[in-house]
Amino acid sequence: MDNKKYMRIIKKHGKDILASDGMKIEKTCIQHGIFSVYDHSLFVTRMCLHLADIFSIRVDTCALVRGALLHDYFLYDWHIPSKVKNTHGFTHPNTAFRNASRDFKLGIIESNMIRRHMFPLTPIPPKYRESVLLCIADKICAGYETIDGFKRRFKKRFRRLDTNA
Ligand SMILES: [Fe+2]
Ligand SMILES: [Fe+2]
Repeated sequence: MDNKKYMRIIKKHGKDILASDGMKIEKTCIQHGIFSVYDHSLFVTRMCLHLADIFSIRVDTCALVRGALLHDYFLYDWHIPSKVKNTHGFTHPNTAFRNASRDFKLGIIESNMIRRHMFPLTPIPPKYRESVLLCIADKICAGYETIDGFKRRFKKRFRRLDTNA
């Protein structure tokens, strides 16, 4: 993955999003393992650009970047026990969409990307190429982040057993 190239594209189209107060909140909220929601959103955006590149898929790059950056703009920590936690998987696309449309001007592609990115957990499928890419990239990145978290916990436990021996 050409991170430098993708970061240039992301900054070009999403500078205002990256600098927003919402993204500051995302930096304080854990998504998976040690990844904050901000880290996850950037990872997913780079993965979207990467998938579009390797499969030569024609996309609206600006919409792809902005929709991917904002797809998890729900702005709370879903690990903190609350009523929200149990339904988070189903409800956060709409929460993210509400917050994102309050803070930014969204086009139809970005809106669809955010609202449909949890398919098939949420039943309505994504409509645009960019939304499908996001749906796939999100699952790849979430899988990677979750496995990374398990690996870290596993290593930590073995280190502890080592020092106790
Ligand atoms: Fe999500
Ligand atoms: Fe996500």
